[in-house]
Amino acid sequence: MIIAIDGPAAAGKGTLTRKLAKYYNLALLDTGLIYRAVGLKAVLNGDPSDSEIAIQAAKSLDLADLKIHGIRGELAAKSASLVAAIPAVRDVLLEFQREFAHNPPDGKLGSILDGRDIGTVVCPDAKIKLFITASLEVRTDRRYKELQERGEEAIRSAVLNDIKTRDERDIARALSPLKPAGDAKIIDSSDFNASEVFSLAQEFISSQMK
Ligand code: DC
Repeated sequence: MIIAIDGPAAAGKGTLTRKLAKYYNLALLDTGLIYRAVGLKAVLNGDPSDSEIAIQAAKSLDLADLKIHGIRGELAAKSASLVAAIPAVRDVLLEFQREFAHNPPDGKLGSILDGRDIGTVVCPDAKIKLFITASLEVRTDRRYKELQERGEEAIRSAVLNDIKTRDERDIARALSPLKPAGDAKIIDSSDFNASEVFSLAQEFISSQMK
């Protein structure tokens, strides 16, 4: 069983993915972390939008890099979205993601991956595809609250601009742009809390398993 979860930044993909992984006992890969790690490694070596630097960072990626300090921060998010627009970087990372999806670690019988192009490119054969979205305002509020809870300084208008710029870059890139797969179930989570989104997803999954 492979579950593909896609959607824009701060739409609630991460929370849903963790809940589903636990419920269905699946190996989980947050593919955003891979791009974040490559972005941060590229920043350490210079400019993340320089393809040579970014490709080297992707080639030298190690699972331990997914735990680099600052991986959940805004610098990682921004540099991730820059390296993610470089086709050769995506090529290097594609095999890693497919290997995880088709041969899940820890003896798990299935996998769940979340990102931007899981249902369209990484696992087009996934049985279950969900596209989780929410309005820009709602996503900004959620990310702003999360940053405040982590004790990080944040300005709401800056958070909104960051999310907007990242979405635009993710949607506009030529290779593997952010978009729902034709056979994905789209859930707009603007008016739902995490448990409600989980219930909707679970209902859809049950209907697909029949
Ligand atoms: O989900 P996230 O915010 O951690 O993702 C960080 C960036 O990585 C995001 O702006 C786009 C990129 N990304 C991607 O291009 N493809 C994926 N499958 C996952 C993330």
